Amino acid sequence: MHVQSIPFLSDEAELKLMDLHMHSTISDGTDTPEEILSRVRDAGIPLFSVTDHDAAKAYEMIREVRKKADPYLISGIEFSCRDELGHYHILGYGFDPDSQPMKDVIEQGHRLRMKKVRARLDFLENEFHFFFPEEEVQHLLSLDNPGKPHIGNLMVKYGYADTKEQAIAEYINKVRFRSEYVRPEEAIQGIIGAGGIPVLAHPPFGSGEQLILGDEMEERLRRLIGFGLQGVEAFYSGFTPKLKAETLAFAEQYNLYITAGSDYHGKNKLVQLGNTGLRFIDSIPIGMKRFLEDLFCKPMVSGQGIN
Ligand SMILES: [Fe+2]
Repeated sequence: MHVQSIPFLSDEAELKLMDLHMHSTISDGTDTPEEILSRVRDAGIPLFSVTDHDAAKAYEMIREVRKKADPYLISGIEFSCRDELGHYHILGYGFDPDSQPMKDVIEQGHRLRMKKVRARLDFLENEFHFFFPEEEVQHLLSLDNPGKPHIGNLMVKYGYADTKEQAIAEYINKVRFRSEYVRPEEAIQGIIGAGGIPVLAHPPFGSGEQLILGDEMEERLRRLIGFGLQGVEAFYSGFTPKLKAETLAFAEQYNLYITAGSDYHGKNKLVQLGNTGLRFIDSIPIGMKRFLEDLFCKPMVSGQGIN
C-alpha cells in the first residue's frame, strides 16, 4: 500500500479526526465491533483502531462487514502489563492477528485474566456469600474478556447490588489477591514479532489515581524503549494540557511515534468517540505523521493489519 493512495494522510483536517483507542464488547466496552464501525462512520472518523484489552478479535469481525468506502481500520490491542515499576497499558497497532507471537501473548493475557475472574468470584462467595448459578459462571468464563463490569452486572441481576458501579465500588474492588500480569517486555516483543508497532497508552497514568511525571515517566520510558517500545499516546481524552505537553516532549526527546486515542468504552465510561484532543492543535506532529507513514508503508501489513 502506498502513502500516495491514502489521500487523508496528507490532509491534516482529516487526520485530526482519527481515534486509535477504543473498546468493544470483546473486552469492557458496551458497543459490539459492528456498532463501533457504524458509530465511527457516523462521527466522520477517517481512521480507527479497536484496542480491546488482551484481545484482537474485533479487527476480524469489523473486517468482515467493512465496506470499501468505510473508514480505514488498523488492527489494535491493549495489553494490561505489570512489572516491578508498576502498571502499564501497551497498545499494539498494525500487527498480523494470526501470527504466533501475537497469539501467544493474547493466550497468556487471557489465561491470567480468567484466573482473576475466578479469584474474584471466590472472594465474593467466601466474603459476602454471593452465589451465582453454575450456568451464569460458565457463561462468564466463556466470554472473550470478562472483567469487573461483567461481574458487576451479574451482581445486579441477582439482587446483590443496585447498580454495576455500586457492585464494583463496594464489593468487587474489595478483593485483594496477588494478580499476575503479562510483563511489558512480553507484550512489546509479541507485538513486534507480529509485525506491529508497540505504543505506551496514556503514559502519565499508572494504576488508579497515580500520576507518573518527570523523572519517573522518563525512567519508565527508557526501560520500555530498551524492550522495543516505539511510540507514546500523547493525545488522550483524559489529558490536561500539561500532561499532553510532557508526553509530547518525551516523544520528541526519544524520537518516538505519537498516537491519539479517546479510550471510548460506550456506556461504560463517559468518553466520546473521537475525543482525543487532536482536533484542537495547529498542526499534526512529525512523530504522528511518521507513525502513519510507516504503518501504511510496511510491506507485510497490507491486507493483514490495515484495511
Ligand atoms: Fe483503553
